[in-house]
Amino acid sequence: MLTERRSWKALELHYDSIRQQHLRDLFSQDPERGTRFTAEAAGLYLDYSKNRITAETIGLLIALAEECGLRDRIEAMFRGDHINVTENRAVWHTQLRAGTNSEVEAVLRRMEAFAGKIRAGGGPIRNIVNIGIGGSDLGPVMAYEALKHYSRRDLTFRFVSNVDGTDFAEATLDLRPEETLFIVASKTFTTLETMANAQAARNWIVSALGERVVADHFVAVSTAEPEVKKFGIDPVNMFGFWDWVGGRYSMDSAIGLSTMIAIGPTHFREMLAGFRAMDEHFRTAPFERNLPVLMGLLTVWYNNFFGASTVAVLPYDQYLKRFPAYLQQLTMESCGKSVTLSGTRVNYQTGPIFWGEPGTNGQHSFYQLIHQGTRLIPCDFIGFCHTLNPLGNHQDLLMANVFAQSQALAFGKQAPAAQPYREFEGNRPSNTILADRLTPATLGALVALYEHSVFTQGAVWDINCFDQFGVELGKVLAKEILPMLDPAAARPTGDSSTVNLIGRYRAARAASS
Ligand code: F6P
Repeated sequence: MLTERRSWKALELHYDSIRQQHLRDLFSQDPERGTRFTAEAAGLYLDYSKNRITAETIGLLIALAEECGLRDRIEAMFRGDHINVTENRAVWHTQLRAGTNSEVEAVLRRMEAFAGKIRAGGGPIRNIVNIGIGGSDLGPVMAYEALKHYSRRDLTFRFVSNVDGTDFAEATLDLRPEETLFIVASKTFTTLETMANAQAARNWIVSALGERVVADHFVAVSTAEPEVKKFGIDPVNMFGFWDWVGGRYSMDSAIGLSTMIAIGPTHFREMLAGFRAMDEHFRTAPFERNLPVLMGLLTVWYNNFFGASTVAVLPYDQYLKRFPAYLQQLTMESCGKSVTLSGTRVNYQTGPIFWGEPGTNGQHSFYQLIHQGTRLIPCDFIGFCHTLNPLGNHQDLLMANVFAQSQALAFGKQAPAAQPYREFEGNRPSNTILADRLTPATLGALVALYEHSVFTQGAVWDINCFDQFGVELGKVLAKEILPMLDPAAARPTGDSSTVNLIGRYRAARAASS
């Protein structure tokens, strides 16, 4: 068990010696600290000096990673071993951008031809609606928003995920069916929400244009050809990927078709190159200079030794507004596990809660709690030296806030004794990730950084970061409950709370029908 490891015990002892030390003292003892605790790769500069660590901490955390076999696990992932043991699958999203896999290349070429045709114009399609959920939505919508600057502004992109009819209704409200293409994105092609929305889209097309033209308005992205056929989409209009691509690791597979149509094949390839650069770094850089390893180990440090239960991700770039939501699936669906790879229950905390909003907006809402609340919330600040939209001195204003926030959190400010409410105790840790500008390559590197940070955490916690059985039960129960919602059905069965809620719902529906 993890907590019995030598390096874990050494970290426990070390934690006792460091927990009282203030970042103010750590910085004054080591004037080089702000340049010493930094690392750089794939266009991303990481300053992790404002963490509650010393060189000894990093040494001990790396010893922990070694003892947990991180090096071998990285190799196993890149080799394509079936490290997703519960599903007996490889975890091989790195192949999507390695530039060496002929099957991947063949799909990319088909995507390029397809995207090229739409982007060339001349045809009727002006609107692209991606229908998917989870990894089949969050990656595409995040990437579209992040790279909007590079996107075709004469095409309209919409993303429908929720089974709430409002999502579909609002997304299509102002679109003309004859100009609209639906990309039905689903790894399994059985996901309830996606299938319901795809059916709604089909009805929307058919009622406006007739059955005959359905094929011109639908493409599928999936690993499940039989299901795609069953739905009525011809496999010639399907872009495939493979069971070794996890849903939350799929934005650079064919699931990124909407991204490619928006930004074009060249930018899409640049994004893949950014992913690849971070992959190579993760695979080859010594752990003490390895960005994903350092960030993953710091997450473990706060999660398991300081008892921090969340991590705030704070991008100072409006284009990254969906990045925290994207990261929530990546981190929490991956690390929300409580049994080890050998099936025993863990006796330590695993994945923390990831959350966040772009700066500076968050500063005017929840930062109060980060600065003066009772909880320790490690923060990841993400900033860029150049904006894509120069406007007066806005970029300086924005970045002055990034630097000010991490400074305020680390060093705090003493208040007069009579005004304790003005006290900033400081000693609140953060990472700062600085890049030149938000390009497709930077985005690829940033996503791969977090993917591999998650991998590092999972290796230490000895959990399977690549399954998601925790989503199953709710799906099964929803199927059972659905027929009970019919006011004409027999009395619902189950626990008294659920039966009562269903009863009220049925009564309200019956009264209005
Ligand atoms: O319910 C969770 C989940 O399985 C995610 O892991 C996945 O990204 C999402 O549903 C969508 O799945 P699919 O792409 O198969 O529709």
